[in-house]
Amino acid sequence: MSHGAPTAASRGPREWSPEQAAEIQTILTRYPTKQSAVMPLLWMAQDAWEWIDLDVMRLIARTLELSPSHVHSVASFYTMFKKGPTNRYFIQVCHTLSCALVGAEGLIAHIEKRLDIDAHGNSKDGLFTLLRVECLASCGSAPMAQINEHFYERLTPEIIDQVIDGLRAGKNLPEPRPEADQWTFPVS
Ligand code: FES
Repeated sequence: MSHGAPTAASRGPREWSPEQAAEIQTILTRYPTKQSAVMPLLWMAQDAWEWIDLDVMRLIARTLELSPSHVHSVASFYTMFKKGPTNRYFIQVCHTLSCALVGAEGLIAHIEKRLDIDAHGNSKDGLFTLLRVECLASCGSAPMAQINEHFYERLTPEIIDQVIDGLRAGKNLPEPRPEADQWTFPVS
């Protein structure tokens, strides 16, 4: 069962709405050339369509008078731009040096096993998506992961298990508390 991952058909046509077009005009005033605005447009597109597919890249390319391959190169370089549908809880685990030195690979292996992750990074229960990513700029609190919009730092397998168990039980994401050994789940 999938929890919230939209299908391609449900995403609608990849054209800017009048509101988005107006916002793009505002964005363009902040840059010396329109080609420089590729990242804000990728963010805008991700907000609108949840992930960046080839049609979205072509739309941005047309808008900014860039080649589709240029937009593709930017979108594919940054893992923060999703390339496909993700489940309700998108777990991005940093595997760059500081995190790698304190157990990121073991943490990733633990999550993969715990969630029964398939080749596309999705859990069989349709609730989680796991992606290994480059540095998320929280190196002093390694190892760390981002789940949806929140950073969870100084992670251990035991702590990530608490988070997973809580989410599977239907609780909300816990409040990140980097200095604590555990998180307190809000009443949901
Ligand atoms: S190396 Fe992991 S957050 Fe920087």
